[in-house]
Amino acid sequence: MIYPIVKYGNPVLEKPAAPVTVFDEALKKLVEDMFASMYAAHGVGLAAPQIGISKRLAVIDITFKEDPDAKLVLANPEILHTEGRHSQPEGCLSIPEFREPVTRARKVTIRAQDVNGKWFEKTGEDLLARAFLHETDHLNGKLYISHISALKRDLMKRKIRKLMKAGEW
Ligand code: NI
Repeated sequence: MIYPIVKYGNPVLEKPAAPVTVFDEALKKLVEDMFASMYAAHGVGLAAPQIGISKRLAVIDITFKEDPDAKLVLANPEILHTEGRHSQPEGCLSIPEFREPVTRARKVTIRAQDVNGKWFEKTGEDLLARAFLHETDHLNGKLYISHISALKRDLMKRKIRKLMKAGEW
């Protein structure tokens, strides 16, 4: 099933999600649906709160279907180590049409559980590192716009409010 993507303004995006505790068939189905929903929305990462499910679960595929081995499921992810800094334009499926440069670590090591509940560690660089941080932020109720200047954020919020009023959000 393809879930609609929840947009900025929905409170589910700004509250910390609950840990995943049961690794059963229903979770496997949810993960499958999350990949399908992410691909349908042309994204390379999706967190469960973005489909209205407040669980610490995210999927990532920075190759967008090119490499099946690049598909990553992160349940209960934790950031273990970060290194370096760089700024790149960043967007979010829940804030469509907007992009802003965000400074983040260039290299990130995470610890997470896979779809079977098995813990693993993985280090990512550049886009993958950014995805680890962006998706983990989502699970903490934090959006990338919290990392940009207040001035830019307010401008963006004003534009979004206009779109909301026009029924285009
Ligand atoms: Ni996002």
